[in-house]
Amino acid sequence: MPDTPKKLHLAQFMVHGPTYQSHAMWRHPETVKAGYDWQRPELYEHIARTCERGKFDMLFFADLNYISDSFRGTIAPALKHGSQVPSHDPMPLLTWLGAVTTRIGLASTFSTSHVHPFHVARTWATIDHLTSGRAGWNVVTSVNHNQSANYGVDHEETERRYEKAHEYFEVCRQLWNSWDEDALVMDPEIPQFADPDKVHRIDFEGEFYRSRGPLNVTRSPQNGPVIMQAGTSPKGRDFAAQYAEAVFAIQPQRAEAKKYRDDIRKRAAELGRNPDACKVLFGAQVVVGSSEQEAVDKLGEHNALVEPEAGMTVMSAHLDFDLSTLPSDSIMESHDHPPLQRMKTRYRDDKGKPLTVAEVAKKHGQSVGVPQFTGTPESVTDRLLEFADYIGGDGFILSPLYNPGSIDEFVDLVVPELQKRGRFRKNYTGKMLRDHLSE
Ligand SMILES: Cc1cc2nc3c(=O)[nH]c(=O)nc-3n(C[C@H](O)[C@H](O)[C@H](O)COP(=O)(O)O)c2cc1C
Repeated sequence: MPDTPKKLHLAQFMVHGPTYQSHAMWRHPETVKAGYDWQRPELYEHIARTCERGKFDMLFFADLNYISDSFRGTIAPALKHGSQVPSHDPMPLLTWLGAVTTRIGLASTFSTSHVHPFHVARTWATIDHLTSGRAGWNVVTSVNHNQSANYGVDHEETERRYEKAHEYFEVCRQLWNSWDEDALVMDPEIPQFADPDKVHRIDFEGEFYRSRGPLNVTRSPQNGPVIMQAGTSPKGRDFAAQYAEAVFAIQPQRAEAKKYRDDIRKRAAELGRNPDACKVLFGAQVVVGSSEQEAVDKLGEHNALVEPEAGMTVMSAHLDFDLSTLPSDSIMESHDHPPLQRMKTRYRDDKGKPLTVAEVAKKHGQSVGVPQFTGTPESVTDRLLEFADYIGGDGFILSPLYNPGSIDEFVDLVVPELQKRGRFRKNYTGKMLRDHLSE
């Protein structure tokens, strides 16, 4: 008997703002023609309903709390190019989208570096209630000095940020557990509202945080949100392997993607977890055409729209390193500044040759390193499955080139093809985000 082919998991990458991973998206003719105002909820409602129709696991909102001055020491280029700015707060939007959908998961980033864990535990438990168990939290520690500056604190090194994040998460976990499952009595006759023996103080005294507890929010349907992570450093990977139920990753080359997933699974197994409980979703931009050539042309048109300076700006922000200090025609890999190490070998040309700083930045502006797949509905499905199967799973986090047209096209043209091949669900079987991920 042949093995049943493994079904993919799909998430939609979003930002509560004009720019996602493509720096051409906000001014692409198809985005302009669609005419949505990204500051209004209608665009997100449309996307949420579309992705729910496509039976996606979740919508995921990235979040940054700054306008970057990492390139040339000024916020001017970030504002000129809409370089991942503005970023409106995604948390209120999650509850809004919870009201217009019933099944799709609703996730966003929240950083552990600047707000007390009691506040965060309370907000996530509330969102999990309001969405009937569809909340997901991407736990980040914030790599960029701009965010620390906005919160008026010194920017700390990766190691220290993750040390704090472990303790932070422990405070949240204890707060979510501070209400036993049957603590809420709500019997008007006795009368008894809640059972005081089943609601516990946590009396947490750590190195970085203190909290008495209990949480003043009842135990939520998933007992807090589903946990996600997107770390690349060894400490980030450890954090993901320990707690995450889904990990987001960007790896343009499939051999590197396989190495990354294997590494996360190995770390999870070493911590005594079942590695299958931690799904690794890889970023993908998908361009569909009625012919191969049409799809290639559509991609070419998109990529040509990215201003070189937009690429420099976003890459400087992501590295927290000013790329204007390097000669733009020098080979990126030849530089050894520590902040560059994370990304300097991410990009190569089609023949595997190293690229210049300007070439790397241009590619970063197109997709921040997310691989681009083109084809007809059938051939692009082949390519996505080849990538996923080579790696061993688990699915993709999709990123549009124009908004919301790319998302509509994927749901209308590619999802049916994946379903026809038995590689994606035709219906939700569970109600909560954790159910979708564990299918
Ligand atoms: C798909 C994806 C989404 C991400 N979203 C965010 C985000 O919303 N906010 C953020 O500060 N960092 C985000 N990151 C960055 C990571 O959380 C992480 O900081 C980065 O990969 C560096 O890893 P490290 O912290 O382990 O060094 C994202 C990364 C990926 C791959």
